[in-house]
Amino acid sequence: MRKLLLTLATALALSASASAQKTTPATDPTWWRHAVVYEIYPRSFGDTNGDGIGDLNGITAHLPYLEKLGIDAIWLAPMYPSPQVDFGYDISNYTAIDPQYGTLANFDHLLAAAKQHHIRIVLDMVMNHTSDKHPWFTESSSSRTNPKSDWYIWNDGIPAPKRAANTPPGPNEHHGPHGWVVPPNNWSSLFQGSAWEWVESRQQFYYHFFYKQQPDLNYRNPAVEKAMFDAVRFWLDRGVSGFRLDAITTLYEDPSLRNEPLTGHLDASGFPESNHTLTSGLPEVHTFLQRLHNLVASYPGQRMLIGEIYTPDTTALRSWYGTADKPELELPMDTLLGFHKEGAGITDSSNPTLTAAHFRKYITEAETELDGHTPLFVFDNHDNPRSWDRFTTPTETFEQKEALAKIIATVLYTTHAASLIYYGAEIGMKTHTPTRREDVRDPIGITGWPKEKGRDGERTPMQWTPGPQAGFSTNPHTWLPIGDDYKTVNVQTESAVPNSLLHWTESLTALRRTNPALHDGGIIMLDNTNPSVLSYVRTAPANAHPILISLNMTSQPQTIHLDLAAAGISVHGLKSLIGPQDLSTFTCKDCPQPPFTTDLTLPPFASFIAEVQ
Ligand code: NOJ
Repeated sequence: MRKLLLTLATALALSASASAQKTTPATDPTWWRHAVVYEIYPRSFGDTNGDGIGDLNGITAHLPYLEKLGIDAIWLAPMYPSPQVDFGYDISNYTAIDPQYGTLANFDHLLAAAKQHHIRIVLDMVMNHTSDKHPWFTESSSSRTNPKSDWYIWNDGIPAPKRAANTPPGPNEHHGPHGWVVPPNNWSSLFQGSAWEWVESRQQFYYHFFYKQQPDLNYRNPAVEKAMFDAVRFWLDRGVSGFRLDAITTLYEDPSLRNEPLTGHLDASGFPESNHTLTSGLPEVHTFLQRLHNLVASYPGQRMLIGEIYTPDTTALRSWYGTADKPELELPMDTLLGFHKEGAGITDSSNPTLTAAHFRKYITEAETELDGHTPLFVFDNHDNPRSWDRFTTPTETFEQKEALAKIIATVLYTTHAASLIYYGAEIGMKTHTPTRREDVRDPIGITGWPKEKGRDGERTPMQWTPGPQAGFSTNPHTWLPIGDDYKTVNVQTESAVPNSLLHWTESLTALRRTNPALHDGGIIMLDNTNPSVLSYVRTAPANAHPILISLNMTSQPQTIHLDLAAAGISVHGLKSLIGPQDLSTFTCKDCPQPPFTTDLTLPPFASFIAEVQ
């Protein structure tokens, strides 16, 4: 799946000073610039009614945990009524709650309770398409003359190639009012096969970028935009803090329906993939976002927009912020650091190697090439195998993998960027990919098996306890199986282990919130050519200490020589801020002495975070 979505790229132990309290340095201008946004897949977080599927009350019940974790906002994946073909990304009513997740009253309770815990709610808004069961589509597909007839992308098709008598029609060849027709062009669906589906009642094809049960809306019709903006207002009026805009780059298509260049690859169903250059990233998307931004910004309380964006490089990412006069997204997702594999092209770029060079490049670019805009670093989400598996190798021990996960967490919370964390990453949940086709729930895994196993692996229920169903549900028949490692990888167990990934994450989010350099300081890369160790310093505002971060990305001890003086920073000592690694294993030979060159020996896969004194 990661390959599919990336095709779219063309488309301390805590320092005594860091407490878990939500106090922020006074300079905080805009909450989202410093935010830790936590993605919750509602089916998989907490089940309070015993049906084996998570629900809104299950999220409310875990708010104290989330506050302790130190998050600022929840990105709630779709919870609207839906046939659940794409588990909520196929919406059949934009202004209600799917009964399997609860009620609107449950939602309002979640919103109010979250506020008590200083947590904002950001909703997932799926604008590109609806469910084929949405009343808009039912009406639109009923005839060519109904009032919503042009709310979706309909087309007669083009004449089918001539075939010999008595030979069957070709794939997706249909008999229309004027003879046999095929789709108007070669556009492929991101979820396999042609992007065009025939409807008998209209004797026409409709266009779908994703599943055929997800017809694309026609945003060239102003009534569609108005209807979608009404839905946006409905939730803003209830008090949500903004939206994560699903597949936002695909809102418009080439009006003349020209063929797209092919990638040269076949999808898992054997259909030739087109490269989506005429179906994604069109200029009209930007002007749409400017209008949407105006609407959202007209509400008080610093509401904001996150965009689901996969770009091939930082320059392309820059364009999604808009301009000072015409702002678009506050936080387009920066997936380059977490997903982009240098030199692998855009079709299979989701498995970057953990190298200092890779991290240095994308952290630097995000700092220097976004014109001061805030990047939103993303390592995990519900569409891609978890970083626990992507950044590690099967031969590494659990301890090594956990150390690597701490490195990723350290990068996520100690740079200038806003941070996106996906539920379970904080405890090191791994990807539990199904091993049998009959167990697969994600349709692309069913049709694409065995080449494409779908996205179930990264969506398994949150692991809370070592008890039955990992504390997720009382029902043994959970919608996806509980990960087989839940007896050791779970919140309860890790809460009792001082050096767990969970405590590491809590320490980092607390430090990030309270430490002036991490909160507001600049960032300077150090030791720029070191292939093994990534080092940077967060410079400090007046009367505060800079923070040094050094991350050994190898399985060998590494000695580094850091010339902080060259970075304009005087050193009189280093105080490690977050343990619980055995600090005696770090040696700092010359720390208190001029000429302020710091020699450190880092153990394998070590994360070193220190206050420069
Ligand atoms: C992107 C979402 O993250 C993914 O889960 C969904 O299947 C597609 N958009 C279609 O809405």
